[in-house]
Amino acid sequence: MAIVVGFISEKGGVGKTTACYHIAVGLNWHHGKRVLVVDADYQRGGITGRFLPDLLEHFRTGRLPHTTLWDKFQELYTGQQITPAIDILSTQEGPKLIPADPRLSQVTVEKMPATNNIRQNSMSLWRHLSLLRSVLEPHLDNFDYILIDSHPEISEVLRAVIYASDHCVSPVKLDLQSTIGVASAIEAMNDVNADVEMMIHAISNLPVHQPTRFSGAMGMMAREWGGILKRTERTEYHRLRRAGTIFDSYVTEGDGLRQAAAERMPVYNVKGANAERQATQFREMTTEFMTRCQA
Ligand SMILES: Nc1ncnc2c1ncn2[C@@H]1O[C@H](COP(=O)(O)OP(=O)(O)OP(=O)(O)O)[C@@H](O)[C@H]1O
Ligand SMILES: [Mg+2]
Repeated sequence: MAIVVGFISEKGGVGKTTACYHIAVGLNWHHGKRVLVVDADYQRGGITGRFLPDLLEHFRTGRLPHTTLWDKFQELYTGQQITPAIDILSTQEGPKLIPADPRLSQVTVEKMPATNNIRQNSMSLWRHLSLLRSVLEPHLDNFDYILIDSHPEISEVLRAVIYASDHCVSPVKLDLQSTIGVASAIEAMNDVNADVEMMIHAISNLPVHQPTRFSGAMGMMAREWGGILKRTERTEYHRLRRAGTIFDSYVTEGDGLRQAAAERMPVYNVKGANAERQATQFREMTTEFMTRCQA
């Protein structure tokens, strides 16, 4: 059964998409794992553009020629099944993809039919929160890992991502803000777990659900000087390490990943010393990811 991992951070531009993409490809290429990527970033659709650049044009126009997560939320709001099953697309790199849909920015529990019955309202909130998980449920046996990329905002979509995930990881830039970014990711996760705990008491017969676990921050765009982390970054890294909340492996800032992004390919395929170094770092991070994110 697939292990579901959400890549979350309230901070933008910290490397969520880069990490999610390289770990997805790394799991597939270097460990033979069956991987599904869900793009829940409704603003950029970065990982969709990375895997299937042609879809970005549709993303910009606001309409995708596929059944997406948005359609499934719509069905929840209207109470009618109007579309076929969600589309899972193939990519050249190997992992499968549920693409981003910009209309996911309109997702809100307020669109759920409201009643003055507290139990029915709780049920309705739970169905909204668990929608992504229930969409993924029939596919869990077809994959070893399901990785979810997200938009940097604590939205209803992010809450659904957290609920759907067995583990959450949080890519961070190792600057002074990183500790704050990690704390807010953990807080968002704890918040969802606490809400679920409450719903379990309010609604009978809910399916068994394990709380989402925080499995670590990931140091991205780290800067080194003479082969070791720069002083401020080292301080941050060790602070997070003492708290037991950061991956041992980190990825350095550099042209290899910039070139990989420009050419829309994994850094594993980019030539040059810097790219090879970053490829090695991502391979190590992928191995550590498998150790940290277990069933
Ligand atoms: N280690 C690195 N070295 C150099 N550039 C990097 C590195 N990691 C990521 N980048 C670049 O930094 C930018 C931001 O990265 P990315 O898109 O992965 O962040 P994000 O957290 O997903 O952003 P958003 O919150 O906007 O979705 C991208 O242009 C990416 O190519
Ligand atoms: Mg992103």
